[in-house]
Amino acid sequence: MNPIVENERIKRSRRNHASSAELLIQAGGYVSPNPYLWEDALISVVLKKPILLKGPSGSGKTRLAQSISHYFEQPMQSINCSVDLDAESLLGFKTIISNHGETVIEFVEGPVVQAMKKGHILYIDEINMARPETLPILHSVLDHRRMLTNPFTGEVIYAHEDFTVISAINEGYVGTSPMNEALKNRFVSFTVPYLSGNQLREVIEGIYPDTSKEKVETFLHISHDLKQQVMNGLLSDEAASVRSLLDAMGLAAHIPVKRAIQYAIAEKLDDQIERRLVMELVDTWLK
Ligand SMILES: Nc1ncnc2c1ncn2[C@@H]1O[C@H](COP(=O)(O)OP(=O)(O)OP(=O)(O)O)[C@@H](O)[C@H]1O
Ligand SMILES: [Mg+2]
Repeated sequence: MNPIVENERIKRSRRNHASSAELLIQAGGYVSPNPYLWEDALISVVLKKPILLKGPSGSGKTRLAQSISHYFEQPMQSINCSVDLDAESLLGFKTIISNHGETVIEFVEGPVVQAMKKGHILYIDEINMARPETLPILHSVLDHRRMLTNPFTGEVIYAHEDFTVISAINEGYVGTSPMNEALKNRFVSFTVPYLSGNQLREVIEGIYPDTSKEKVETFLHISHDLKQQVMNGLLSDEAASVRSLLDAMGLAAHIPVKRAIQYAIAEKLDDQIERRLVMELVDTWLK
């Protein structure tokens, strides 16, 4: 591992020591599709560059963010932009509380403010689903200023030195819009592809260590063919989803492989022709 990454890991894990219990329960476990994606992402974190992970559903974006959190022993706060996100859900809100019989207004800090102050990782999922007026609030947080003037309290917040932002997007999905240029410009971007070959085998064997070698090979062949047909434009991206493949493997421990793939992969596709193609591909490996 690059020495600047290793030094930073030691520093951050020491600083976060007291709050790391929860993290250590979550698995790390991201398997990099090539020898450099994982290390380059870590270097970007060390250099305090916000990271944008671009990839289809089930390609491991959230797992990669969790693994970074695990690696640095640094807690992660998550925001999902597909819900009706507004400034209050990012920054926090004022509430009235009773303190020794006296009514006082208190500000409850939201995930962005907490992550900035505590030096946590802020994971912004589906960032291109946010309403366009919401995210400009974060521009000063995401560039070299690493600060924010909280519009609800007037407080000026400077981010803790460990504060890290990781965002994820599924490009081109329904309900998403192209990311605003000024927002996109603040990130370094990584394409997160579906795994294949030996890397996929590593993930499968890690999750299903008791599955027979023969069955693992069958699933790897099927996955390879599905990916090939995605590249040929005959199947949508999701047909090659690692999440779906792992779901199918889980089911296949209890029911026939063919039905497992039907439920976990084929039935999720909208197009009937695609569904049929998946099942035809499966048949070629099961006879
Ligand atoms: N490269 C990988 N290394 C380890 N696990 C992986 C990898 N790719 C996918 N997985 C596994 O596939 C499943 C889905 O991964 P994850 O939830 O991270 O996908 P995602 O890209 O965040 O999907 P979505 O866009 O739908 O949120 C998880 O169980 C994860 O462990
Ligand atoms: Mg995800």
